[in-house]
Amino acid sequence: MVISVPHGGKLVNRINPALGNDLFLNDVELDNVELSDLELLANGGYSPLKGFMGKADYDSVVQNMRLSSGLPWSIPITLQVDKQKAMELKEGETVNLTHNGTVYGCMEIEEIYASDKRFEAEMVYKTTEMAHPGVNKLFNRPDFYLGGPITLIKRPEKDKFETFYLDPIETRAKFKELGWKTVVGFQTRNPVHRAHEYIQKTALENVDGLFLNPLVGETKADDIPSDIRMKSYQVLLEHYYPKDRVFLSVFPAAMRYAGPREAIFHAIVRKNFGCTHFIVGRDHAGVGDYYGTYDSQKIFSSFKEEELGITPLFFEHSFYCRKCENMASEKTCPHNLEDRVILSGTKVRELLKNGKQPPKEFSRPEVVAILIQGMQELYIKS
Ligand code: ADX
Repeated sequence: MVISVPHGGKLVNRINPALGNDLFLNDVELDNVELSDLELLANGGYSPLKGFMGKADYDSVVQNMRLSSGLPWSIPITLQVDKQKAMELKEGETVNLTHNGTVYGCMEIEEIYASDKRFEAEMVYKTTEMAHPGVNKLFNRPDFYLGGPITLIKRPEKDKFETFYLDPIETRAKFKELGWKTVVGFQTRNPVHRAHEYIQKTALENVDGLFLNPLVGETKADDIPSDIRMKSYQVLLEHYYPKDRVFLSVFPAAMRYAGPREAIFHAIVRKNFGCTHFIVGRDHAGVGDYYGTYDSQKIFSSFKEEELGITPLFFEHSFYCRKCENMASEKTCPHNLEDRVILSGTKVRELLKNGKQPPKEFSRPEVVAILIQGMQELYIKS
């Protein structure tokens, strides 16, 4: 039996297709991020949240990394509308939640409020620079926030890898079926290279199963698209992982690039999916030079482990070392930088686009073949 308890004690379920659609007078149009959040709110991925945050939770999360109940929560989950829309709506009314005109859910508006976005950016992203993709997104979203409980009426369509979308209740059942008592979650927005494989397998030495849970929601334009990544994960698992020790499903949320705060968020959400442990490596969820290499690990000391209810497993920067003739990390390898096979994400993308292979010490050849094909197709299309 899996011992992971959902955040707040109970998985939220706010899915009710029986409600039908086009129920209410007013529509509120969701962007891609909000649509993916709607599904995760409804299926319990974001337990104990039952809807988009009201002002008390929003303020408390922004300032203290806690919900107003005191429970840890590090990223605001918000729904924003422009001033004109905010003036049309009334607190207490229920609205349709739409995306491209289709109704996906409804929401009882408990509160309409404005916020200080600069403060949100400073607190959540540690910067107000527009070059930061999360800050850019925040400032480009409208200014008025709607808080209140949601209901999901229709699932967002899955045009790719449909069978890999599982709700927390389903992943929990799967872990139970596999007989895993301890499960380590792995978040990624990248292909799994040798360093990722190394930290996953090192973690796996100490737990029953690995939950490979790539994020497939909105990412920045130069990240490798999720459909190419999904093929690369499948080929890697087929060739290099024992089938009964790893389970792959996708995490539909958008990337925030909030570094340390997002690491806490990623861990809590993976607890809801049934994980007991969560991997945090170098610069988790970071972008550019906005965060220190290990800030995403240090932030865990702001919370008691029992408050988070999931055990973080920290890994130092990992690589292949030619002298060690092995994968290693800064913690375990005494050799120099020139002995280590380290490539930046930008360098790897450039190689792949040009049809060149990164060394096999960096990435498995089967993975590289998929990535080269995918990136070249993408390049030709664009
Ligand atoms: S993330 O934005 O989803 O965190 P990425 O897919 O690069 O980015 O990383 C997935 C996980 O692997 C994160 O926990 C990250 O810290 C870790 N990681 C990535 N590369 C390395 C590395 N070379 N050494 C150690 N940890 C790493």
